[in-house]
Order: sequence, then C-alpha cells, then structure tokens
Amino acid sequence: MPWLGSRFWGGLGRGRPWGRAGGIAETELAADPTTASLAGANVQALAYEGSVPGPTLRLREGERVRLRFVNRLEEPTNLHLHGLHVSPEADAPFLHLQPGEDHVYEFDVPEGSAGTYWYHPHPHGSVEGQLGAGLAGALIVEGPFDSLPGIAEAEERLLVLKDSPAFRGDPVLVNGANQPILQAKAASLRLRLLNASTGRYFRLALEGHPLYLIATDGGLIEEPVRLEELLLAPGERAEVLVCFEREGNFRLMGLPYDAGDGPTSGPGEPLLTVAAPSRTEPGPLPSCLAEVPALDLSRASAIQRVTFEAGVFSGKQIDGKSFEMGRVDLHAEKGTLEVWEIENLDNKAHPFHIHSYPFQVLSRDGVPEPFRAWRDVVNLPPGKVVRIAIPFSDFAGKTVFHCHLAGHEDSGMMAVLEVTEPEGEAPAADPEPAGHHDHH
Ligand code: C2O
Ligand code: CU
Ligand code: CU
Repeated sequence: MPWLGSRFWGGLGRGRPWGRAGGIAETELAADPTTASLAGANVQALAYEGSVPGPTLRLREGERVRLRFVNRLEEPTNLHLHGLHVSPEADAPFLHLQPGEDHVYEFDVPEGSAGTYWYHPHPHGSVEGQLGAGLAGALIVEGPFDSLPGIAEAEERLLVLKDSPAFRGDPVLVNGANQPILQAKAASLRLRLLNASTGRYFRLALEGHPLYLIATDGGLIEEPVRLEELLLAPGERAEVLVCFEREGNFRLMGLPYDAGDGPTSGPGEPLLTVAAPSRTEPGPLPSCLAEVPALDLSRASAIQRVTFEAGVFSGKQIDGKSFEMGRVDLHAEKGTLEVWEIENLDNKAHPFHIHSYPFQVLSRDGVPEPFRAWRDVVNLPPGKVVRIAIPFSDFAGKTVFHCHLAGHEDSGMMAVLEVTEPEGEAPAADPEPAGHHDHH
C-alpha cells in the first residue's frame, strides 16, 4: 500500500498560483491529454493541469473569481462549477469550447457557502468519457466557519473517490491511488469526501468509529449528526469529523450498495487505511455549526412533479422525454419557492442533480428528512418519491437538472429549467459595472 505525504492529502495537484487583489481572485486552468500514473500504472488520461484528480481550487466566501479555462483537448469541452450557487450565465452549461478555445468563468462566491464542491466537464454526450478519463477536481470554499473550535484543530483531508479509467472502474482510486494510507497527526480528522465517479455509489463506514456529519453538498448543517455509515451518490459531497479514541489502523470501507442492479461488491472493500496517531485526546465536537433556514412551505408557489425513468430507447427519461438542447422543460419564476416531487419510476436508482439552485430535501418516500441541509444531489432510490424545496431567490436564466450517472446524463436523462424574471417587471438593467464584460 502506498504511503503518501501530507501534500497528497491536503491540496491535490499543482494548480497555478492565484492572483488576489481588490476582492478579485484570478487563476487559470487547462484541460490536456496526458499520461498519468494511477495506482502504479501509466494510463492515457485527460487531466486538468496534468494531474488526476485536478488541482484543488480554494476559493473564499465573498470574493469574485475570474477563472480562465483553456481547452487543450482534441474535442469540445467546458467547465462546470458543480454545486456553487452562481448564475446559470456564469455556470454556462450549454457552452461548448472547441479545441484551443478558452473562456473566463466569472462569478461571486456567495457568503455563507463555505464547503466542498467540485468542477468537471459538462459537454452533452461526452461527460462520461471525459470525467472517466480523469477530468475532475475539488473546489473548496473557505469561510469563517473553518476557524470554529472543534473544527479548527481537526486535521483537514480531502478524499476524491473515483472509479478508475485504467481498470474499467476497478479498483476505486482515492486521490488517484489504490488503497492509500492516511497517517493522521491530530486527534481528530475533518474529511472532505467527494464522489467524483461516473456512476458508482459509495456506502462508507470507518472501522471502529462513527462519522460525525458536519456538511453536505451545500455546506454546513446546523449541528454534527452521528452516522454509522454514509451513502454518497455520484456527484455528492459530505464533510465528516472523525474523533480517534485509540491508536491503530482503521479501514474506510466501501460497503455493498444495491442501486437496483445488484450490490456493487461482496462484503465490502477497503478504500483506504487511516492510521490514528498515538496521542489521541479529541476535544469536544462543535455544538453549533451554521444556521440552515427553515423554508416557509406555505409560501411555495408551485408543486412540480418530476419523473425519472431509464427509457433510453423509448425516449422516456425525465417527464417522459429525452434531453433536447433548445427546449425548455420546466419554468420557474425568480423570487419564488417551489416544491418538487421527484418520482423514480424505475427499478434502478438515479442521483438527481440541479445546477445553480441548492435545495433542501423535505422527505424521502414519505419519511421527513431528519435534519435541514442544503444539497445539490439527492439519490432517488428505485420506485421512490423524494420531495425537495428549491428557492429561486436570485438568478434568472436557463440551466439543467439531470441524473448524475454520467452515462445517463449523456444519453439524455437531463432537462432544461428556465427561471424567468417576475411577470410585469422589466429585467434589471445591467447590474455589473462596466469592465466586467471583458470575457466572451
Ligand atoms: Cu456535476 Cu450537471 O453536473
Ligand atoms: Cu452540477
Ligand atoms: Cu440515471
């Protein structure tokens, strides 16, 4: 088993330095074909800045980001800011950059959005190929929360879990390595977990230790939630605290998960080994993390019913249709709150994901959600209904929602949502000062 230094676990890859001045953070990122060494083998890969996973981009709450992205692939691609609450225009899911083209992604990092996000390609039809070939990286938003007692002393580690392109999905790679060892130095760990797989679920458990969930897709929850295991659907993230009670080696296991087509693996497989330090006296858990507002459902303006089914051949995928670039499938009005009842008509699970607009899960199969959290991915188990509430408080524009199994998305399990300005109100005049339009 490889031992990998702290650089490996902290920030991955050699990203380019950030320039920061006057509240604006700028950097560049390029996608290139490359030869990557993954789990001891040299494989042909596609990579951001030559590394698989790509460099971890660290942003700060409240700053404006200008990220210049260059397509050096031999095929069209683009960059999706998965989970960030930025406008559809900034996320630009319909933009296809030809080989050699570049684009400046410009957006504001919302206050209160500290958490774990990621970036990956989104050209319709090629997502599975490009993501599977290595294009994915973590995007971390730092905020005042990081210095809370109980959080600040924890040793922060990022785990990018990914089915590997070189071995047709096996083994699972953690930060590009097969079953690495994480040598912990502090008495508690803050793990940022990202499922960057094209289609694999991870049901995670750490030997001898509960996981204390502190953040979901959209950032912090209100207080730590003790979990014996954690299910991460493709695209989903979570942050957990691990408090070591004793010295020793503990394996993070990927337990079998049955998405409707049989369990992924027999009794479970070790993903990595955590070596706990010798002196372990974890301090108390943080009691209060962040405020996640309760949404006033009596003000919900619409209840939308959305169905998912894997009808690739019948063309029935979302609400009985397959994706079409130029068509708008659902409308919502800016400034409103909507409840969506998403039903999975299939005998296979689909992870639902929507761009730009984080939501709260209200109930799963009629069972009320035990705690409030912002999310952008929610798993739809076979035959079940999941209810979510989505505030469309800001940002008008056109974006997509889809299944985050990359192959399903590519074959049309995706739909277009258009959020329009409220009736009778003229669209606001250009809210940005001149000079912010120097890109495209
Ligand atoms: Cu991470 Cu539209 O996806
Ligand atoms: Cu996304
Ligand atoms: Cu699907």
